[in-house]
Amino acid sequence: MANLTVVVLAAGQGKRMRSDLPKVLHPLAGRSLLAHVLDSARALRAREIRVVHGHGGEQVKQAFAGQPITWIHQAEQRGTGHAVRQAMPGIRPRDVVLVLYGDVPLTLPETLRKLVARAARGQLAILTARMPVPTGYGRIIRGTRGKITAIVEEKDATPAQREIDEINTGLIACPAALLAGWTRRLRANNAQKEFYLTDCVSLAVKDGVPVVSVTAASPDEVLGINDKAQLAEAEAIRRRRISAELMVAGVTLADPERLDVRGTLKCGRDVAIDANVIFEGNVVLGDGVRIGPFTLVRDATVGPGTVIHSHCVIEQGRIGAGCDIGPYARVRPEVELADGAKIGNFVEIKKSVIGAGSKVNHLSYIGDAVIGSKVNVGAGTITCNYDGANKHRTRIGDGAFIGSGVELVAPVEIGAGATIGAGSTITKPAPANQLTLERARQTTIPNWKRPAKKARS
Ligand code: UD1
Ligand code: CA
Repeated sequence: MANLTVVVLAAGQGKRMRSDLPKVLHPLAGRSLLAHVLDSARALRAREIRVVHGHGGEQVKQAFAGQPITWIHQAEQRGTGHAVRQAMPGIRPRDVVLVLYGDVPLTLPETLRKLVARAARGQLAILTARMPVPTGYGRIIRGTRGKITAIVEEKDATPAQREIDEINTGLIACPAALLAGWTRRLRANNAQKEFYLTDCVSLAVKDGVPVVSVTAASPDEVLGINDKAQLAEAEAIRRRRISAELMVAGVTLADPERLDVRGTLKCGRDVAIDANVIFEGNVVLGDGVRIGPFTLVRDATVGPGTVIHSHCVIEQGRIGAGCDIGPYARVRPEVELADGAKIGNFVEIKKSVIGAGSKVNHLSYIGDAVIGSKVNVGAGTITCNYDGANKHRTRIGDGAFIGSGVELVAPVEIGAGATIGAGSTITKPAPANQLTLERARQTTIPNWKRPAKKARS
């Protein structure tokens, strides 16, 4: 197949988003609209990607800094044809050019591949769709034997033309030399005084170049995002697609409409995900993992057989096999849970290693700690890791037993098999296999009386 250059039109302002954020930077499934479009371009192995930017251009460029993109500035938005014309200089004449829109993020690579293949045969290929309500779109005009002869914009269309439900999605593919020539010949003699890319169709017809169409399998693929309602609609389409893929792969979903995957999710066999779970970044769930409702999991690998109960926030972590987490647990970045570790409710863990089979079951904060295996951390135990200036480590040896309500003032080390009495504030090393406690002696004050309320004078 011919070499491909992708031109992404992204200069529009997106007024209807009513936002300070440039339209193409609005997130869909956790990534910007433009990032989704660039993914499609990359899936087609484009030799070069050119993005036409205008409104909020610097912000858009910054969001993709370091990526191999040729940025083309369109100072004044004078129409889709004008935008493509700006992008043409320097594209090799024998390339195929595929025009995508920065605000049309859901087109499937298969569909685009078909479009490019048609163009590689020297034709102008147009992606069309059947829209039950075609309002606002350019209509496809077909002549004898169904040949496309023109695209008419809604604002320029006659009432009869407005009845046509085959619409122009705006996405086209065309040999570069032809497209360069036609975009130079465009005139802005229409209702919007714009240079219409769609007028290339009549120029192609004049020049005897075949105009062919590929029809999108579903209008979902060509949904353009102009406002927040369409953004939410696109999100719902994505959600349904991802849920369908997961279910085909054998994942049990309590409700495919109530699962958000903002990134990538890989699942082993017999994974079950309850309602209202959100995955962000890269998440890998091993065989038999179960996730309870209302849980967020970001950038984590979860070993086989682990259960994460409801209302947990996992911000990053390497979680072993057979762990039990939550409900209501928070795992912050740089946490490693070895196999069989158990983190209970209202427990926060940060930058720590919890050894195999160790338990932190209730109301604890564990930060900057290395905890061995088979350790029991009692309810309400806190690592005092921060002295107001620096963070310090806590080390707890294998098999230690930390009583409830203990404060471990770091840096501090608890030996293997040590027992720490409940309520202790530990500031010095606690030796292995012995009981250490720090506790004022309990006293009872004889004849003590509760204060009584004074009688009102
Ligand atoms: C365009 C098509 C119309 C089609 C519709 C599909 C033309 C003349 N019309 O209309 O047939 O049904 O898309 O959504 O092509 N853009 C620029 N620079 C410009 C103008 C636009 O980069 O000067 C970008 C916009 O950011 C947007 C895309 O091109 O991503 C489409 O522009 P828009 O104004 O939305 O096109 P429509 O008038 O909707
Ligand atoms: Ca317009």
